[in-house]
Amino acid sequence: MEPIDLLSRRDFLIKGAGALGAANLALWAGGCESCVQQIQNRPTRKNIQTLWAANPSDPIITTYKAAVTAMKALDTSHPTDPRGWQHQANIHFNSCLHRNWLWLPWHRVYLLYFERICRKLTGDDSFALPYWNWNSHPAVPDPFWDTSSSLYDPNRAVTQTDKADASYIGTTVLQNILGETNFELFASLKPQAGQNLHLPPPPDSPTEGMLESQPHDNIHIFVGCPGGDMCGFHSPLDPVFYTHHCMLDCLWAHWNIDLGNANTNDSDWTNYSITDFFDENGNPVTVAVATTVLFPILSYQYEPCSIGTTQGSQKRLQGKQLEQFLRTGAPSKLEFVQRFELRQEVAAAVGKPATVAVKVEPGALRSALEADVRTRLVLTVAEVEVPERRDFFVRVFLNKPDASGETPIDDPHYAGSFAFFFDESAMKNHQGATEMPGRPKTGFLVDVRPTLTRLSQGGSLSLGEVAVSFVPVPSSPRAAPSAQVKLGRLELAVARF
Ligand code: C2O
Repeated sequence: MEPIDLLSRRDFLIKGAGALGAANLALWAGGCESCVQQIQNRPTRKNIQTLWAANPSDPIITTYKAAVTAMKALDTSHPTDPRGWQHQANIHFNSCLHRNWLWLPWHRVYLLYFERICRKLTGDDSFALPYWNWNSHPAVPDPFWDTSSSLYDPNRAVTQTDKADASYIGTTVLQNILGETNFELFASLKPQAGQNLHLPPPPDSPTEGMLESQPHDNIHIFVGCPGGDMCGFHSPLDPVFYTHHCMLDCLWAHWNIDLGNANTNDSDWTNYSITDFFDENGNPVTVAVATTVLFPILSYQYEPCSIGTTQGSQKRLQGKQLEQFLRTGAPSKLEFVQRFELRQEVAAAVGKPATVAVKVEPGALRSALEADVRTRLVLTVAEVEVPERRDFFVRVFLNKPDASGETPIDDPHYAGSFAFFFDESAMKNHQGATEMPGRPKTGFLVDVRPTLTRLSQGGSLSLGEVAVSFVPVPSSPRAAPSAQVKLGRLELAVARF
C-alpha cells in the first residue's frame, strides 16, 4: 500500500484513491468543477444530543445505530473482517497512541475510516459521525441509553443523569485550553527519540498536554471507571467513544481553523505514518500525519462546537490560504529557560488534599508574567504513579493551601485537572518479556500563566514561591471513596517557543 502524502506525491494524486477520496484528491491535481462541489458538500458532523432532541429518528442517529448493528453482525458472520466491531476496538487496544503529540492525528484517522465503514455497511453515503458536546450536555447523550439499541453499552459507570464535572469540560476550562497557542501544550508533547509509543513514557518525561489530560482522559474515566469499557483501551466497544473523540477532533479543527493556531511543523510529526487502519472495503491504509491536517477542509466539516465566547483570530483564512496555513504549521518546541523544581514525594487522597510549595525566583516569575505572548509558565506534574483504582481525577489549585473538594472550580486559584487513562493489560501485551519494575508512571503539563496572571492582578501573588494543591475527587457518584495519587516531582518552568 502506497503512502498518501499530499505534500509530495503528485502522481498519486492524479491516480486518485486513498484517504480523501479520488475526487477530493483530483482537485489538488488541477481542479475540476464536480470535485469542488464534492468538497463543498462534504458531510457535516453534528451534535448528537441536539439531533436527538429535535428528532430521535434523525437519519444520522438511525444510520449510526444500523452501522454498529452491522459491524457487530460482522463479528459473527465474518470473524476476520477488520471492519467488525470487535476488530475496530482491538485496533485501539493494540495500537492506540496516547500521552504524546500523535494522539490527535491517530484518532482523527481512526474516525475517518470508521465513518467510511459506517457509510459502506449501511449504504447511507451522506452519513457523518455525530459528536458528543460534553460542554453543552455533560451527561452521556440520550441516544446511548435505549437498552434495545445497538448504541447501548451495559458496561458504563455512569447513569443517564450523571454529569461530567466542570473541572474538565466547563466553559472556563475549555476556553483556557483553546486559548493555548502552543501546539504541544494544547495537544501533548513530542515523545523522546526511540521511545516505544505503546509503553508508559520514560519515568521522568512529562507527556500530556491540556486537551488530552483534561477533557479527553477525564471523560473516559467518568463514563467507564471503574470496570466499564470506556475505562481502558477497549473503550471503542462503547459506541459513545467515537462521539467523544469526534468532539475532541472538532475542538482541534476549531483551534486550527477558527482560532488560527498552527500545528507543529516538526517533521517527526508531519512525516509520521499511521498504518493501523482499514478502509471501507477492509483494505489496510497508510496515512501521513501531514495529510490529516487537511481532513476538516476536504473530507468533512463540523457544525460549530465552539465553547463560550472564545474569539477567533481577526483575519480568518479561507481556501488556498487556509490550506497553506494548515500545511505549513509552525515551530512548537518549548525551550525551558528557567526551571524551579521540587523533588519530593507528594501523596493526596479523596478527602485528603495535599499542598506543597515550589520555591521560585521572584524576578523570574515577575518577568515571565510580564513577558510577550510566546512565554509560558509551565507546571509539570511528573513521576506520577498510575494508581490501581482510576475512578477519580485530581484538581490542581495554586496558592490555595486550604483547597478541598468543596472549593469551586471558578475560584481564581484553579489551574486544571488530570486523570489516568491507562490500560495495563494493553501495555503488558506490548512489553513482551520485559517486566517493568513497580507501577507505571506518567506526567502532565499545565500552562499556569493565565492562573498566575489572574492572581497577580488580584494582588494575591507572593513571588517567592508557588503553592500547589492536589485535590482528588471521585469521578462519578459510584466511584471510589478511597482513591489516592502519588507523585515524585513538581516543576514550575519559564518556557518559550
Ligand atoms: Cu485512544 Cu480516547 O482513546
